[in-house]
Amino acid sequence: MYIATLAWVLLICGYRMRRKPGVHIPLILSGILIDYSLVIYLQLTKDAVQTALKFELSPLQQIHIGVSSIAVMLYIPVIILGTLLYRDRTNIKLRALHLKIARTTLALRTLGFLFMFSMLK
Ligand code: HEM
Repeated sequence: MYIATLAWVLLICGYRMRRKPGVHIPLILSGILIDYSLVIYLQLTKDAVQTALKFELSPLQQIHIGVSSIAVMLYIPVIILGTLLYRDRTNIKLRALHLKIARTTLALRTLGFLFMFSMLK
C-alpha cells in the first residue's frame, strides 16, 4: 500500500508539473513504472487476476479492482499520446486528446487509490 501510495503521489506531482515536460514526464513515467511493477508482483505472489475474477470480494474491493485495471490499461494510450505531443507540442488536437485521456486516467487511478483502503484487513 505504501508503494501504491508513492506511485499515486508521483502521478499527482507529475500532473501539477504539467507545464514543464522535463519534470512532468519523468515523474509520471516513474509512477506508471511502479504501478506496472506492482501489478506484476501482485500477480506473481497473490494470483491477483484469478482472485479478482472469482468476484468473491466486497463491492468496494471490486470497484478498486475495476477502476485500477482500467487506469493501468489507459496508461498505454496516455504514454503514446504524450510521446507524440512531446515531438509536436504545437499540435492542438493532440494536446486536447492527451489532456482528455490523461485526466480520465488520473481520475480513475485516484478513485482506485481511495478504494484501495477497502482492501485493508
Ligand atoms: C496520467 C498521466 C498523465 C497526465 C494526467 C497528464 C496530463 C497532462 C496535462 C493536463 C497536460 C497539459 C495540457 C495543456 O493544458 O495544454 C499535459 C501536457 C503534456 N504531457 Fe502529459 N500527462 C500524463 C502523462 C504523460 C506522459 C506519459 C507523457 C510523455 C510520455 C506526457 C507528455 C506531455 C507533454 C509533452 C505535454 C506538453 C507540455 C507543454 O508543452 O506544456 N504526459 N499532460
